[in-house]
Amino acid sequence: MNSFIHFSRRNFGSVLKCSNSDCGFIQRRNAHDILIRERTGKPIIKYGPGGRSSVSGHIATVFGCTGFLGRYLVAKLAKQGTQVIIPFRDEDEKRHLKVNGDLGQVVPIEFDLRNTDAIVSAVRHSDIVYNLIGRDYDTKNFSYEAVHAEYPAKIAEISAEQGVSRFVHVSALNADARSTSKFYRSKALGERLVRNAFPDATIVRPAYLFGPEDRFLNRLAATGGWELLIRHNDAVVHPVNVIDVAKALAMMQTSESTAGETYELYGTKGYTFTEIYDFVGEVTKKTNTRVYIPKSIALLYARLQNSLLPWATISPDDIERMTISDKFSEDAKTFGDLDIEPVSLEAAAITVLRRFRYNVYFDAPPDEVEAAKATLKKRKVPFIHT
Ligand SMILES: NC(=O)c1ccc[n+]([C@@H]2O[C@H](COP(=O)([O-])OP(=O)(O)OC[C@H]3O[C@@H](n4cnc5c(N)ncnc54)[C@H](OP(=O)(O)O)[C@@H]3O)[C@@H](O)[C@H]2O)c1
Repeated sequence: MNSFIHFSRRNFGSVLKCSNSDCGFIQRRNAHDILIRERTGKPIIKYGPGGRSSVSGHIATVFGCTGFLGRYLVAKLAKQGTQVIIPFRDEDEKRHLKVNGDLGQVVPIEFDLRNTDAIVSAVRHSDIVYNLIGRDYDTKNFSYEAVHAEYPAKIAEISAEQGVSRFVHVSALNADARSTSKFYRSKALGERLVRNAFPDATIVRPAYLFGPEDRFLNRLAATGGWELLIRHNDAVVHPVNVIDVAKALAMMQTSESTAGETYELYGTKGYTFTEIYDFVGEVTKKTNTRVYIPKSIALLYARLQNSLLPWATISPDDIERMTISDKFSEDAKTFGDLDIEPVSLEAAAITVLRRFRYNVYFDAPPDEVEAAKATLKKRKVPFIHT
C-alpha cells in the first residue's frame, strides 16, 4: 500500500495527510474525534466531516431492526456513518434498511434467538448492541417471558463475553413485576435479567409509540366507523413520537454518561383513550359511532379474534394495558437529561392520520374542511385541490 497516513501534532489538533502525492487528502483531527470506551477502554476514532459517507468509528448491532422503532434507529445510526449490523429473520423484512447507509455500512446477518452462534456473529465486532426485540402478544414459539426476558438476557450475556462496550435494552414504560399485564411483568423481568448479565446496560422505557407505521394511532383511526372504548376506563397515557425515541437511542451510542442509567421516554401530555379518539376524529374529520363496552367483553372479543384469525390482531394483554395509567419512577432519567424536547401528539399526528381523511378534504386547510364537506354533500365537485 503506498497511501498510508502521517499523524502530526499541531496546537490542540493534528493533521492527517496521505503520503501519496496524488491523493490530495488532508484532514484536521481533534481531541474530540477520539472516544475511549469506559467499560472496555477501546478507542473509537471518527473519520471524515460527519454524515452518511463518513465513519463514526462505531459498529452497532440492532436486534429488532425490522420492527417499527428499529427502522428509525437504523436510519439515524447509518446517517451518522455508523456501521450497523442488522440481524433479521425474514429476508423481505430487512431490505428497506439497506439504503439507510452508505455502501457496505448496513450489514444484514440472518439469526434466530435460539441459535447462540448466530447471536455471537451478530455482536462480536460491535461496539454497541441495541436490543429492541419485543412482541405485543404471545406466539406459539415464543412467550412474553422468552422474547422480553430470557433471550434479551442471553444477548446481553453474549455481548458482555464478546467485549461489547455498551448495551442498550428497550423495555416499556410501566414495566412492573406486580403489574396486571403479562407484557409489563415480562418487561420488568427482562430489565432485571439484562442488568444481571450486563451491569452497566442502559434501560430505555418508552411510552406508547406513535408514528407512520405505529400500532397506536393507526389502530384507533382504522375503526371502520366504530370506536370501541372500555367502559369506566380513565387510564392516562403519554404517547411519544417514535423519532424522538430513536433520536435518544442514537445519542446513547456516543454518550458514556448514559451507561447504567434508566430512561423513561414519554410524550408531552397525558390523554385518556376517549380524548385520543376525540383528537383522532378531529384530525381525520370523521364522525364515528362510539360504543362503550365492559372490559370483560373487550377481553373476550380480543381472545376470540386471536384464536380465530390467523394474523395478529389486538391481544387480550393489549386491552389490559389500555386500562393501566402511565407511572413514572423518580430515579429514572427522561428526555430532558438528553436535551431532547419531544414533539407533541397534536403537532405530529397529522403525518400519521392524514391518510384516513376522505379525499375531498385530504389536504384542505382546517378552515376549508367544512366547505369541502358541504361540497361533498351536494356531490358537485369530487376534488377541491388541483
Ligand atoms: N410500539 C410501542 O408502542 C412500544 C411501546 C413501549 C415499548 N415498546 C418496545 O419497544 C421495542 C420496539 O418496539 P416496536 O414497536 O418497534 O416493535 P415491533 O414493531 O413489534 O418489532 C419487534 C421486533 O422484534 C423482533 N422480534 C419479535 N419476536 C422475535 C423473535 N422471537 N425472534 C427474533 N426477533 C423477534 C421482530 O422481528 P421480526 O420482524 O422478524 O418479527 C421486530 O424486529 C419492543 O421491545 C417493544 O416491546 C414498544
